[in-house]
Amino acid sequence: MKKDIYILGIESSCDDTSVAITNNRKVLSNIVSSQKIHQKYGGVVPELASRSHQKNIVPVTSLALKIANIKKNQLNAIAFTRGPGLLGSLLVGCSFAKSLSLSLKIPLIEINHMRAHVIANFIENKNFNPPSFPFLCLTVSGGHTQIVSVKSIEDMSVIGQTLDDSAGEAFDKSAKLLGLGYPGGPLIEKKSIGGDCNKFIFTEPNVDNLNFSFSGLKTQIFMFLKKEMGKNKNFIKENIHHLCASIQKIIVTTLVNKLKRAIIMNNVKNVAIAGGVASNKYFRSEIKKLENELKIKSYFPKIEYSTDNAAMIALSGYYKFRKKEFSNIQISPDCRYKI
Ligand code: KG4
Ligand code: ZN
Repeated sequence: MKKDIYILGIESSCDDTSVAITNNRKVLSNIVSSQKIHQKYGGVVPELASRSHQKNIVPVTSLALKIANIKKNQLNAIAFTRGPGLLGSLLVGCSFAKSLSLSLKIPLIEINHMRAHVIANFIENKNFNPPSFPFLCLTVSGGHTQIVSVKSIEDMSVIGQTLDDSAGEAFDKSAKLLGLGYPGGPLIEKKSIGGDCNKFIFTEPNVDNLNFSFSGLKTQIFMFLKKEMGKNKNFIKENIHHLCASIQKIIVTTLVNKLKRAIIMNNVKNVAIAGGVASNKYFRSEIKKLENELKIKSYFPKIEYSTDNAAMIALSGYYKFRKKEFSNIQISPDCRYKI
């Protein structure tokens, strides 16, 4: 009979404090405490993020154990996000993971956050149907825009990534220019309803190979709004739906065109999409079109495992636990931890 392995996973790379417990590939609990304090600043403030992690980590861990109905002494290992991410935030998760591992006398396992986004596709649930290898994974969130070529759980390589802003930041910064709140993606999506996505044409950033760049697009939108507002100070208000639909279209088109190129170049039949931006309905419908056009299959992990979460960290820990890939207690976070 298969042995039950219980892993406690900790995620604290950005502004979500998350702790999860897994039993082999199943998730028993996945608690995410999203920090609201950043909303009024229109983006994540690193110092405030690490302070909030300090405040949240113990109650979030207690709740994760309670919901999973697991005692600390049943745990087999502690997995934590080593990076990439914000140093102060990572330090909180790393120190807490070390102290748990020491006090419970169980192995410590470091996890790469970007690999974990890919591994989230292998969380076992009711309609478990993970992508088969090889596949590409596009991770699109506030922190990342990256295409990973996945040949196996261990064999992953980055084939394209943003040179500056992420796709989520493009949504967030555009929303800020339009005077909407934070996070901007869901607000732009909501306001795009009833808008004409072809009313205002923005140009796709011209970047070689499979990389992305979104900072020029932000400048393009800023200059356009400045010009139009100079002529009519009610321009944004009068055109908010068209503006949101047009901005959403250019960000999504940029993502989908690059992904299409990557699929053709790598000759794969499966793509997985992760990150907060993956919840955008227009993006999903464009991926569906790509599916039909290229005769491929797309996979979207459940949204709670697609945005930052500790279940993906715990599951990644499970794979490493089986191979006895443990970390030394001297380990420290690595903000630029490479896949
Ligand atoms: O994965 P996530 O929750 O957190 C990290 O950044 O890691 O992603 C958050 C990002 C934000 O930039 C937010 O604006 C964007 O995902 N986002 C969306 C939507 N929901 C969240 N962007 C476009 N459309 C959405 N519906
Ligand atoms: Zn992430």
